Amino acid sequence: MDILELIRSRRSPRGFWEKEISDEDLLKLFEAARWASSSYNSQPWRFLYAKRQNNTKLYDDLLSVLAEFNQAWAKAAPVLILTMVTKKYEVSGLEYNHAWHDLGLATGNMALMAEALGFNIHIMGGFDADKAIELFNIPENLEPVTMIAVGYGGLPGNLPLDIYKMEVEPRERKEIAEFVFDKPFEKK
Ligand SMILES: Cc1cc2nc3c(=O)[nH]c(=O)nc-3n(C[C@H](O)[C@H](O)[C@H](O)COP(=O)(O)O)c2cc1C
Repeated sequence: MDILELIRSRRSPRGFWEKEISDEDLLKLFEAARWASSSYNSQPWRFLYAKRQNNTKLYDDLLSVLAEFNQAWAKAAPVLILTMVTKKYEVSGLEYNHAWHDLGLATGNMALMAEALGFNIHIMGGFDADKAIELFNIPENLEPVTMIAVGYGGLPGNLPLDIYKMEVEPRERKEIAEFVFDKPFEKK
């Protein structure tokens, strides 16, 4: 598939079919994350995941950390992931100022990998990080960043109306000229 077409067709669904993600495909998601670039190759990303099918207690706990709006639709996704980053560089001990950036590259890889394999991921910032730290004994050196719902996106008949409406709205983006510049900004 044309890469730009793959990038353009990727989307973050809020409706999921009742179809499991195979272990093989899940592994490919993490493998795609693994090969992202990162500052000093420090690979600050960490993931805690659960499949509803065979790790139900952890799945339910991950779901419970999500904001109410996200829980309403993400509970249909067969896999949930909590993403975290290391707060400091492991080698130098200095503050890892680009950790979120590098996690974003890794999750970007995951989004495209999923798209190429025919399923989807949906990244969420709406969750209670403090609750996650407590519930999952997250060590001091790690910071929770996002949660991810993984599944086969679609429009199953049982979608709540408000979510259905969001799903069928056209996807929009800024024009390139709104965010790309070829001269310095005006002096204030
Ligand atoms: C860091 C981040 C946080 C997000 N948080 C939420 C969220 O809490 N709930 C939600 O429904 N979508 C969330 N999204 C999804 C965005 O709304 C979505 O990516 C955006 O509307 C563009 O849609 P698309 O991914 O389908 O192109 C988040 C996406 C990112 C990257």
